Amino acid sequence: MRSGEMHLSLTIENVKDFILDLFLAGTDTLSTTLVWAMTELIRHRNVMQNAQLEVRKDLNGKIRIEEGDIHKLPYIYQVIKENLRLHPLSPLLVPRLCCETVELVSYTMPVENWVEINVWAMMRGPKYLEDPEIFLPKRFEKKAIDFGLANFEFIPFGGGRRICLSKSFALASMDLWLAQLLFYFDWELLGERIYPKRIMTSLCASIVIGGNSDWRLGGLNHHRLGFEDIKGFLRIFH
Ligand code: HEM
Repeated sequence: MRSGEMHLSLTIENVKDFILDLFLAGTDTLSTTLVWAMTELIRHRNVMQNAQLEVRKDLNGKIRIEEGDIHKLPYIYQVIKENLRLHPLSPLLVPRLCCETVELVSYTMPVENWVEINVWAMMRGPKYLEDPEIFLPKRFEKKAIDFGLANFEFIPFGGGRRICLSKSFALASMDLWLAQLLFYFDWELLGERIYPKRIMTSLCASIVIGGNSDWRLGGLNHHRLGFEDIKGFLRIFH
């Protein structure tokens, strides 16, 4: 940049905006998705058990799960995909502005028209999926999905030029964190009067969509590991 190769000058405002972008796009997104994933898992105990079985069987004997272990956990990856399908963080993506007039099916979209893309509805489309309202990670067992490069019916990270810059990082982080949550702890709903099927009845929405949070989960240290063994992991979730 300093050598002038890129023919653009970067101001301190540009740098600040960029860092702000990363904070805004990179914090709530991951934590909200993880909360949705745990919500679905507590509502579907069989899926939680299968995922725990996978991570505990395949990583048996290890105390720490590392990035390199993730590829051994295909079921957890399916859980993440299914979770993103049912709970896309930006249900309408980022709005687009038409640069030219476009004819699409029987509609004319004039130049400078704003376009919202309803990803939430697309990913629940019965045309593309069986039982689209059901949380069923196994549906991704045989279906190869490339997140918005060719499969435009499945675009939780958006698509085209404005696709999420951090798709790979976000997927790897969610994989690792979910695997750790399931590896280290056994999960139960706290409180006497809450039933798994009744949580998540309301949503709070802005550009990012999240669930209600008037319920709490408690995790029991499954491997009876000492604080020293899991403190690195706990620090992330503090
Ligand atoms: C579960 C995690 C995440 C999801 C579901 C997600 C989803 C999205 C979506 C839907 C868009 C808009 C794409 C479009 O309109 O086509 C987007 C844009 C963006 N995301 Fe993510 N995101 C996640 C995590 C992250 C993280 C961790 C970062 C950064 C560290 C990040 C950085 C960005 C940036 C900078 C953009 C704007 C790209 C542009 O407009 O050119 N995202 N993300």
